[in-house]
Formats: sequence, structure tokens, C-alpha cells
Amino acid sequence: MKHYLSITDLGDLETAVREAISLKKNPYAFEKLGKQKTICLLFFNNSLRTRLSTQKAAANLGLNVMVMNFGTEGWQLEYNDGTIMDEGKSEHIREAAQVVSQYADIIAIRAFAGLLDKEEDEAEIVLNGFKKFASIPIVNMESSVAHPLQALADAITLHEHCQMERPKVVLSWAPHPKALPHAVANSFISMMQLQKAEFVIANPIGYDLNPEITKDCQIVHDQERALENANLVYVKNWSSYANYGRVLHQNPAWMMTKEKLGAAKFMHCLPVRRNVVVNDTVLNSDQSLVIAQANNRTWAAQLVIKRILESLK
Ligand code: CP
Repeated sequence: MKHYLSITDLGDLETAVREAISLKKNPYAFEKLGKQKTICLLFFNNSLRTRLSTQKAAANLGLNVMVMNFGTEGWQLEYNDGTIMDEGKSEHIREAAQVVSQYADIIAIRAFAGLLDKEEDEAEIVLNGFKKFASIPIVNMESSVAHPLQALADAITLHEHCQMERPKVVLSWAPHPKALPHAVANSFISMMQLQKAEFVIANPIGYDLNPEITKDCQIVHDQERALENANLVYVKNWSSYANYGRVLHQNPAWMMTKEKLGAAKFMHCLPVRRNVVVNDTVLNSDQSLVIAQANNRTWAAQLVIKRILESLK
């Protein structure tokens, strides 16, 4: 695997999940694979899970790890060619990407959507800028439109905790005070499209996601109907796609509660706002898989980095 930008870069998902689970059982089996190699993690946005789990995964493979909060510590980057750079931006992506390539063997990048300009976000200027001008593999640690490390961790969690022939899985929108990106929901949908499951997306009118991603998924605007007989419920907020980046409303009736969840398992990528997105009683119950998901972030990252290291040989 040259780069990891999307869940589809893994090839067969079931094989990847099984490989990640074998790394979970034996984390140091490939501790020499990354010897004398370096991964550079560049964060343009905040993180807890991605930052720590990716560092841990890299360390398990014997890599040196460099971490930089590029958004606050790096020079402001220019992405357009031909710009007269006489304003705030000090460095061009052309130099920055090539320079990082001198110090590392893999670059991992987190750069969220700005949610102001759909076209600009969908162009993935940071991720694609590094991909274009770096000479080494790129890992997506959550970009404008995708969070494939989260999606792989979710696939591992699903495999471990929902071993039914064809479970009913619901992705449900939830209220949130801030405008949030679509990346987690998009990648979860792309991952579910590779699963044997009855998959339903539940969101209020006005919150339908990009139809190029949801494709022929069932989208229901009545949460109660969507949740009927669900085995697993993945809750996530996202801002409007049609009315790009806007919070149209924060309808509290869409918050997940124990009553609505019934006997289903609960998933969320974290961080989560308690009693806004989901009630305490859900998160505090045995039905919640959020900590298992966070744990699986390490094994997802380790599988991805391992495959990239193997392709460098
Ligand atoms: N789920 C997730 O990506 O968490 P962080 O934003 O804390 O990395």
C-alpha cells in the first residue's frame, strides 16, 4: 500500500480487519519493521485519540516518531501556484512537502474541513498538496472529507462486538452546538458499504450527506423508525451538506437515550458531548463500545503503517 487516504486503499476489508486483530494479539511481532525509519505526524487540528494511538502504533513497529502541531507551530502554507506571497503566508506547499520528505519516511496528516467553501474542502488541498509534492507515503489522519483510520477502527470494533450474519446498523445524526465536518460519517458510510449488513442512515431533513458518498444507502428522516430492531447504533453529528457547513437546528429530540437505543450496541468516534449528543446512561452502560473503538485506533494505525512499511522494502 503506497498511501492511506481512504478505507478503500486497504483492498479487502475483512482481510485487513483480521490482520489488525492479529496485531492486537501480538503488538510487537513486527517491532523491527520500522527500525531506522521515521514517521512525521503533522497536525493542523486538535486530537487526542489519533495523536496518541498513531504514535503508539508507530512505536510498536519500531519507528521513530516526530510530531508537529503544524496549525499553530508551522509557517502558514500557500497552496496556489503563481501567487505573489506578499501577505500572511510564508511557505509554499511545494517546498514544505519536499522538506518534510527529507526528514521522514512516512507523513501522516490531520487537516479538517474549513466548512466555509465546499469546493475548497472537497479539493482536499492540504492532503492532496502533500501527496502531490512529497516524495514519501501519506497517511490520512482525518481530512476534510474522510477519516479512514477511524473507519478501520470501527470495522474492527464491529467485527469484535457484532458477530451476526447480517446485523442492522444505524448511523444516526445527533444535535451539537458547533458546525462539525462530515469526515467521520463519510468514512463510516464507505466502510459500511463494504459490510454484509442492513445499513440505515437517520438524519433530519436538511442534513443529508453528500449523495456521491451515500450512493444508494437507505436514508430515513424519522429516527424512531430507523432505530427499529437495530443491533448497533453509531451516533455522530454533522453540519448540513446542502446548506454547506451550517447548523440548521440542534433538535434535542435526536439525542441518543437508553430508551431509544433499546438492546442495541452504541458507537461514537469521540470526543462526545454528554447529554447533548448522547445521554450519560448510554455512555455509562455496557452497551457503549466507545472505549473499545478508541483502543482499536492503535491497531488500525498499526496495520496501515505496517502495510506502508512493507511496500517501502
Ligand atoms: N476520533 C478521533 O479522531 O479522535 P481525536 O479527534 O481525539 O483524534
